Amino acid sequence: MSRIRTPLAERLGLRYPIVCAPMFIISNKEMIVAAAEAGILGSMPSINARTPEAFRETLAWIRQRTDRPFAINLTIKLTDPERLQQDFAACLEFGVPAVITSYGNPSEIARQAHDRGMVVLHDVIHLKHALKAQESGADAIIGVAAGAGGHAGTTSPFVLYPYLREHLRVPVVAAGCIATGRQVAASLALGAELVYMGTRFIASTECGADEQYKSLVINGSPEDIEYTDGVSGVHANFLRQTLPGGALTTAADRSIAQVSVQKDGGKKWKDIWSAGQGIALAREVKPIAAIVADIVREYGEAVRALPTLEET
Ligand SMILES: Cc1cc2nc3c(=O)[nH]c(=O)nc-3n(C[C@H](O)[C@H](O)[C@H](O)COP(=O)(O)O)c2cc1C
Repeated sequence: MSRIRTPLAERLGLRYPIVCAPMFIISNKEMIVAAAEAGILGSMPSINARTPEAFRETLAWIRQRTDRPFAINLTIKLTDPERLQQDFAACLEFGVPAVITSYGNPSEIARQAHDRGMVVLHDVIHLKHALKAQESGADAIIGVAAGAGGHAGTTSPFVLYPYLREHLRVPVVAAGCIATGRQVAASLALGAELVYMGTRFIASTECGADEQYKSLVINGSPEDIEYTDGVSGVHANFLRQTLPGGALTTAADRSIAQVSVQKDGGKKWKDIWSAGQGIALAREVKPIAAIVADIVREYGEAVRALPTLEET
C-alpha cells in the first residue's frame, strides 16, 4: 500500500494529501465515503442536506460506513445563523474529524472545534484574509488560486502557495485547477502540505452532478470557463455554455437562467454550472477510487521524471 506523507496529511490521518473539496449542491455522502476509503479527505457543505435533521442523518450514514477521517464545510455567511449553529452542533456530536470554514470569520467555530480535537481548515483568496484566519485559530489555510471552480481568486498558483507559505505559521493547502498527480507534485513543490480538488471530482461516478454537467467537464477546455460576478455578485468560475446566452441554453433555458440570476440563494447554481480551468485535464468519469489511483500513479511518474540536482 502506497502513501504520500506530509505533516498535515499525517495529522488528519490521510494516506494521500488530497481533499475532495466541498461543492454546493453536488457533493454528497457517497463521495465522502468513497474518498475516505480511497485514503483522501472527502467533504461536503452541511447545507447540501436540505434540513438540519437530514444533515444529522447524513452524518450517521457516513459514520456507519467508514471510520476514516472526513470533513464538513460550514459556509458561515451563506448559511442562516440558526442552521449554521445546528449543523456545527451536529458536527461536534458526531465527532466530525475536520471542518472547512468558508465565507466568514472562523474564530468561534475554531475555538469550539479545538476543544474537541477537530482540525479547522479555512479557505481564502488573499494573504490578508489568510492572516486573519490564522489569528482566528485556523489550523491550515486553503489558498484558492486563479482558475479554481466556485469562488476563485485571481492570483496565479505559482505565486499564491509559496507566498502564503512564506507569511503564515500554519500549513498551506493548494486549491485551483488541480486535476492530475503531476499537479499534486507541483503543489507540494510550491510549499503546500495538502491539495484541494473540486472540479476533477465533478467527473466522478459518485458525484451528484447532472450527467450533462459531467460531460461538459470531461469534454471542456480552459476557454470554456468564464470568471464573472454576474451570477451571485461574487466572482466565480462557470461553464460558459450554461451562462445566460451560452451555447447550451435554448430560448426557454435562457429565460430560466435569467430568472435564476436574479434570485437570491443557491437556485442559480442549479441552472448555471460552476467548474474551474482544470476541466482541461479531466477526461473521464470514474469512481473516486480510480481517480485517486490515477493521481497517485501520475504523482510517482512525475516525481521520478524530475531531473535531479547534480553536484559537479
Ligand atoms: C460546483 C462547485 C461548487 C462549490 N461550492 C463550494 C461550497 O459550497 N463551499 C466552498 O467552500 N467551496 C465551494 N467550491 C469551491 C471548492 O471547494 C474548491 O475550492 C474548488 O473546487 C477548487 O478548485 P478546482 O475546482 O479547480 O479544483 C465549489 C466549487 C465548485 C466547482
